[in-house]
Amino acid sequence: MFPTALAEAAARIQACLDAELAGRADQPVLHAMRYAVQGGKRLRGFLVLESARLHGIAPEVAVTAAAAIEAMHAYSLVHDDLPCMDDDDLRRGQPTLHVKWDEATAVLAGDALQTLAFELLARDTLGPAERLVALLGSMARAAGAEGMVLGQALDIAAETAAAPLTLGQITELQAGKTGALIRWSAEAGARLAGADPSALGHYATALGLAFQIADDILDVEGDAQKAGKRLQKDARAGKATFVSLLGLEGARARARALVEEAEAALSPYGDRAESLRQAARFVIARDS
Ligand code: IPE
Ligand code: IPE
Ligand code: MG
Ligand code: MG
Ligand code: MG
Repeated sequence: MFPTALAEAAARIQACLDAELAGRADQPVLHAMRYAVQGGKRLRGFLVLESARLHGIAPEVAVTAAAAIEAMHAYSLVHDDLPCMDDDDLRRGQPTLHVKWDEATAVLAGDALQTLAFELLARDTLGPAERLVALLGSMARAAGAEGMVLGQALDIAAETAAAPLTLGQITELQAGKTGALIRWSAEAGARLAGADPSALGHYATALGLAFQIADDILDVEGDAQKAGKRLQKDARAGKATFVSLLGLEGARARARALVEEAEAALSPYGDRAESLRQAARFVIARDS
């Protein structure tokens, strides 16, 4: 069952992050880092563990890479919620970090979560040095100015743009904002094994887009209690989203088609990729 598999992965990743940050709680910024890595669905970490399993790498080994991407993702959320970005006060059902502490602590905890991600990926328990170098380089690209940061910048710029974004522009924005880290996660198992990541990359490109369409749908019609974050923010900010451009039904249909595309991309792995197919279906059925 997918929910059980996801919960197991989440527990494994949480234990790793808690161990990494244990004993570092005497400083507010370190305490805040621990706070920021609590909760969440752990979808990206799950993708790392499952893509690794498909390539014969045990979860006990791959968990360090799964924890790394979740630390990177947590940093992106802490900064995304800042007053100068989305100005949100609720995340994962808790006060956002800058509300609980202050803005400086949120900036610094985010910075240190990002460097923690690289520190974890550099562990020699993960694999031979040349594979780790490739993994580190790909993570830097996925998170940086041509990846997640680019998507975030395009998203912020769109708030004050003269005209709403086109579907093509939103798709480009999404590929950075949400797509890049999701893609890195799904490809990580192949990279760790020194194998070709292209089938997983194709899967993740479709999955990442479906994920963002689901996030946009949730923003319109989700339940804030279940989602653990404020909703109905996109329309209020005057943002063009997949929903504003395609309509709710159109967005749902597009997301379903993308999930089918993601599932089909896994054909080289046969039945062994069933949990990744389930993950794709979960992404558009989720309520948080
Ligand atoms: C939320 O990501 C932010 C986006 C990239 C849209 P998730 O929905 O994966 O957040 P958590 O980790 O489960 O809280
Ligand atoms: C956040 O996107 C994406 C990243 C943090 C990279 P959103 O701003 O749409 O995410 P939510 O809706 O706040 O979770
Ligand atoms: Mg945002
Ligand atoms: Mg946001
Ligand atoms: Mg959103």
